[in-house]
Amino acid sequence: RHHILSLADFTPIEYDTVLKAAASFREVLSRRTKKVPALQGQVVANLFFESSTRTRSSFELAAKRLSADTLNFTSATSSMTKGETILDTAKTYLAMGCDIMVIRHKEAGVPSAIAAELDRLGERVSVLNAGDGQHEHPSQGLLDLFTICTLIDPIEPRLELLKDKKIAIVGDILHSRVARSNIWSLTASGAEVHLAAPPTLLPKWFADFVNDEEIKEIDQIPNRKLFVHWHLEPALRDADFVMTLRLQKERMTANLLPSLREYHQLFGITRSQLKHCKPNVKILHPGPVNRGVEISSDLMDDPEFSLIQTQVTSGVAVRMALLYLIGSGKAVG
Ligand code: CP
Repeated sequence: RHHILSLADFTPIEYDTVLKAAASFREVLSRRTKKVPALQGQVVANLFFESSTRTRSSFELAAKRLSADTLNFTSATSSMTKGETILDTAKTYLAMGCDIMVIRHKEAGVPSAIAAELDRLGERVSVLNAGDGQHEHPSQGLLDLFTICTLIDPIEPRLELLKDKKIAIVGDILHSRVARSNIWSLTASGAEVHLAAPPTLLPKWFADFVNDEEIKEIDQIPNRKLFVHWHLEPALRDADFVMTLRLQKERMTANLLPSLREYHQLFGITRSQLKHCKPNVKILHPGPVNRGVEISSDLMDDPEFSLIQTQVTSGVAVRMALLYLIGSGKAVG
C-alpha cells in the first residue's frame, strides 16, 4: 500500500501492523528523548484545506518525532487565495521534494484525486487522507482502534481483542467521516457496532434497516455486525464502549435538528444514560466537542469514563506509525 486513503479495504494484518508499530512508538514517546531517526531527510507536507487542531498538530509532531522535515500549509494564507488550484498546489509541494502529503479537504475524494494524479505522473509521493468531507478519516479510525485495544492489552494491542465487544456510535452519523472509518475498522474486528441517531442524521440507505422493536442486521456489509437505531437506549444496552460524535453544524444544509436542547435530551451521553451500559464502560469522542450537547460537560472531563484526552495522546503514536510504515517504504500490510 502506497497511500492511505480509506479503511474500507484494510486487512486484519494491516490493522495489526499499525497497532504494533503504534505501540512501539508509544514506548518511544515515553522516553526522555522521544525521537528516532527513522525518516531523517524526508519531507512531510501537511496540506490542510480545511480547519484542524488535533489532526494537523499531531501529524506535524509525529513527523518531527521521526526526524522528518515538515511543511505546514493552510489554504486561507496560501496562494489559493490568488486562484492557484488544488492540484497545482500539490505539484508545488512535489517540486520542493515532498515525500508524504497529509491532506484534509472539506470535499470527499480530494486526497484520492491528488494521489491518482501523482501516480499518473509516476511520482513515488504518498498521500495520507487526514479527513475528506463526509467520506473518511482513516488516521482517526486507527487511533480510536488503538485507544480501545491498548485499554484491553497495553503491551500487545491487536484487532482480535475487540471480538465480542459491543460498541455504540452515537450522533451525527450522516456527516461523520469518523463514523465511516470507525465502522470499517470496528466491524472488521468482530465487534458488534450499534449506530444511534435521529433519522435525519443517518444516511438514507440506513433507513431501510431500522426497526424500533426488532433490530436488523445490515446485510450490505457481509459478515460484519452493524445495527442501526433511532433511539439511544438499545444502542447503549450493555455497551463496552460509547463513541459520541460532534454535531457538524457547518455541514448541515437543512434544518436537521429539532433543537440542541432536544438533541441533548434524546441523544446526549450523560451519567444517567450510562446505567444502560456495562459498569466499566468507556466513552470516546473524536473532538472537537460541543460541550453539553453530545456529551455532558462533567462526563467529558471525568477520567473514570472519558477517553477523550487519551485519544489525542494516541494520535501522535498512531500517526508516527502511519508515517513510518509509508515513509520507510514498508507496505502497511
Ligand atoms: N478529530 C479531528 O479530526 O479533530 P481536528 O478537526 O481538530 O483535527
